Amino acid sequence: EDIFAPRKNSRGWNLQDPVELEVFEKGRSLFETKQWTAKPQLAKSTRKKGTPREIVNPADSSDVVGIAWFATSQHVDAAFKHATPWNAPVEERANILRRAADNLEARHSEIFALLTREAGKTAADGIAELREAVDFLRFYADEGESNIGEARGCIITIAPWNFPLAIFLGQIAAALAAGNAVIAKPAEATPLIAALAVEILHKAGVPNTALQNLPGEGPVIGTALTTDPRADGVVFTGSTSTAQIINRNVADALSPHALFIAETGGINCMIVDSTALPQQAVADIIASAFQSAGQRCSALRMLYIQDDIYEPVLKMLTEAMDELALGNPWDMRTDVGPVIDEAARARFSAYIAEADVIHQASDFPDVGHFIQPTLVRVGGRKDMEQEIFGPVLHVAKFNPKEIPAILEDIDSADYALTFGLHTRIDNRVDDITQKLRVGNIYVNRNQIGAVVGSQPFGGSGLSGTGPKAGGPDYLPRFLKKSHTTRDE
Ligand code: NAD
Ligand code: ALA
Repeated sequence: EDIFAPRKNSRGWNLQDPVELEVFEKGRSLFETKQWTAKPQLAKSTRKKGTPREIVNPADSSDVVGIAWFATSQHVDAAFKHATPWNAPVEERANILRRAADNLEARHSEIFALLTREAGKTAADGIAELREAVDFLRFYADEGESNIGEARGCIITIAPWNFPLAIFLGQIAAALAAGNAVIAKPAEATPLIAALAVEILHKAGVPNTALQNLPGEGPVIGTALTTDPRADGVVFTGSTSTAQIINRNVADALSPHALFIAETGGINCMIVDSTALPQQAVADIIASAFQSAGQRCSALRMLYIQDDIYEPVLKMLTEAMDELALGNPWDMRTDVGPVIDEAARARFSAYIAEADVIHQASDFPDVGHFIQPTLVRVGGRKDMEQEIFGPVLHVAKFNPKEIPAILEDIDSADYALTFGLHTRIDNRVDDITQKLRVGNIYVNRNQIGAVVGSQPFGGSGLSGTGPKAGGPDYLPRFLKKSHTTRDE
């Protein structure tokens, strides 16, 4: 058996462990039909409940997962009034964050249930996301103890829906470990998992004055939070266009010393040359482009295949696409789940209708928001103006003589997030890794799923401001000034 070949009706990329399977099944049976609620989580509650919003399952629009009460400007004002930096000793803060990590693991069934029903995560993605969230809590707890300094004050954290637990909690954990107060705002589509995560942090011992959470509309609540001079910094992950709006708001309204971190999108490329192992390259292309239905900032968007292996690799790739099981993420056989909402589905569908389609994977369910994994022919990176945040992979043929021009093209692009390379030529690895200005380069593997603490993650240019999340430069940014005490 070829261990690199994509598995037919795979049970997921990560699900070899029978214990994990059992846990996931428990989440399914216990919580499949539960109704969840999210409310503004304030230090001192106000009389106003907010505006109710139904949160629906992206895989089945008739399934209402719960109700979120979206915050109003009164909630924003109340949150700033009561926000108080967390001045407990650093070891106590770190231990509370570690306890929260333990509690997240203990409540894995509910978390898998919500990640799947609210965010459309497959079992493999849900497990990976819980692991990443737990890693962030433990990593920033350690980093808080290694970086001593004065907290900035009150930090606003604004998260995307595609990592509604890991990124939401990663931002919060770094700010709290450094002793700041946090006012968090989850994405509109995923307030329920955020409310559960904040409840777990509070129960672990984070004071409710140090952590408040306001579900709400970005242009309303996000704007109110990021234009209030009581904020000492904004930490944002999401689209480049939103980051640009927030950047201007922060510059206009906050102190010139305020923190601003933005982690945004990418138009990420991969080069596969004729020395690559085709089976491995295909498995990594499939994972990079289609895992999480392509809804990862790190995902592969533009694939270059060397001309003399183009036809056989393309054939293998399209056959592997046909083996992908697209469907309800609750089904353990599902490889590719839904996209987040109808607006995203309609956008990708219109894009594909105009594209030079080479291949589309097989059937998909008739409820929910699904897009088949799709391969599109383009001339190269220059043909792509914007990030297509779904399961659409662009492919071009190249001749080795064109490599300098391709690298020049990638390097001169405004986005700079991830890059993948499949080759057995060591000089080429050295040359490309030295030349390219992108955040994370992956060689002879897939280009998603950076591991907290080992693979600090983040880009530059339109892809982000740095510092890299999950790395040593991140937490010090949450202090006014710091010194590091680290055992080397
Ligand atoms: P988005 O920009 O639409 O929303 C992100 C967050 O910003 C949400 O909470 C939203 O409510 C809020 N927001 C929207 N308008 C706002 C405003 N005017 N002021 C303040 N807040 C506002 O992004 P999304 O669709 O949720 O996420 C997908 C995007 O995130 C993709 O572009 C993806 O590449 C990027 N992303 C980047 C990383 C990374 O680490 N670089 C990780 C995950 C996702
Ligand atoms: N950190 C996430 C990844 O690497 C976004 O895919």
